[in-house]
Amino acid sequence: MENIKRYLIRGGKPLKGEVRVSGAKNASLPAISATLLAKGLYKLKNVPKVRDVFVMLNILEYLGAKWAFDKETLKIDTSTISKTEIPYELAHQMRASILFLGALAGGLGEGRVPLPGGCAIGKRPVDFHLKGLSLLGAEVSLDHGDLVIKAKKLRGTTIILDFPSVTTTENLLMASVLSEGETIIKNAAKEPEVVFLGEMLKKMGAEIKGLGEDTIYVKGKKKLKPVEMEVIPDRIEAGTFIVIPGLFEEGEIIVKNIPFHYLETPLQKLTEIGLRVERIDKEVLKVKKKGSLKNTQIFTSPFPGFPTDLQPQFAVLLTQAQGISVINETLFENRFLYVFELNRMGAEIKVENRTAIIKGPTPLEGSPVRATDLRAGAALVLAGLCAKNTTTVYNVELIERGYENLIEKLKNLGAEIVLETGG
Ligand code: UD1
Repeated sequence: MENIKRYLIRGGKPLKGEVRVSGAKNASLPAISATLLAKGLYKLKNVPKVRDVFVMLNILEYLGAKWAFDKETLKIDTSTISKTEIPYELAHQMRASILFLGALAGGLGEGRVPLPGGCAIGKRPVDFHLKGLSLLGAEVSLDHGDLVIKAKKLRGTTIILDFPSVTTTENLLMASVLSEGETIIKNAAKEPEVVFLGEMLKKMGAEIKGLGEDTIYVKGKKKLKPVEMEVIPDRIEAGTFIVIPGLFEEGEIIVKNIPFHYLETPLQKLTEIGLRVERIDKEVLKVKKKGSLKNTQIFTSPFPGFPTDLQPQFAVLLTQAQGISVINETLFENRFLYVFELNRMGAEIKVENRTAIIKGPTPLEGSPVRATDLRAGAALVLAGLCAKNTTTVYNVELIERGYENLIEKLKNLGAEIVLETGG
């Protein structure tokens, strides 16, 4: 069997209780690569112990850094960095390895990063990254499948992004903080994870204005210094948990360490769908089901729009809502592969191009299903919790890329879920 690690879920049992949101994977990854911008000792608190983080750390270690988790604090020492070339064996495991391109260019003036391959949710090209870095004065070429960057002298300039791409904005921030003069990034991404990286760079000594806005201004500095940072909560993990009460009669859940400010759009959607959303403390949220769920329409778009990384989880919720719901995926062309798995469980979802049309409510029936990407995998777990009988979710390595202790967290809420390995 090609992949034998799987989750077994006995569904239909209402979940109840409290769950705590971990640190954000997508904030941790750029923060880890940013440690290349100034040699020395960094302390990052609240980094989730998930697969993508370890891939990033293994790459950093290959380049010569040392790292260790000391309880909740990740210590990274980049004073011994000795290489600038990343091997394919490490990089191909994760598309976000592209984040090393900006950090190597900015911090070390050169680098070799394997071009990320295709990915299950679509083509995901890197042309914006290359265009932006070239405008800053870097020479980027393709050599045997690797991006080779030479950036001996980077000069500030104005870069207008074709689309507010998250990792492109992050790469350009990292490349520009040590360049000469002022860089202006227009149509920049406003995602909280981009803002977090910007705040980290500011703490390191960078001069940055406009974080969280359309235009970011960076004044290049000669030198930066290592820092301590606490990673922001994972809004996508939080967004996955808040769906749970809607899957059960009288469902109720308390979610702690909630980043309210980053989750306004999904919370508003949840209210529209008919769940009761109550802030019961500064970072604590109660979500409760009150009667039947209503259909809705979701458009994914860059922050503060509805996150593409939450559409599969909300699709599962909408299989339990009355009437026809519609999801328009505007970011990635291939993000509905999970629909075919959900339909095998009894959902009635039609996909036309980038639109999913969901007819609800449909009872779900446990089945063997296969995760097609990280968030699709999380959605199938939610479906398994909601479904009658046993659901087996295959390809769970994809889920482990971004969810910390998912099984333990769900078990604490009363779920019957186990990880099985072997044939
Ligand atoms: C990041 C997130 C990912 C999330 C996505 C959108 C990380 C590590 N990953 O991915 O979880 O789903 O933002 O919120 O933070 N594009 C190009 N050329 C490029 C770059 C992007 O055409 O050079 C297109 C993409 O195909 C996509 C759109 O721009 O259609 C946005 O993608 P982008 O914001 O770059 O996503 P990532 O940064 O890869």
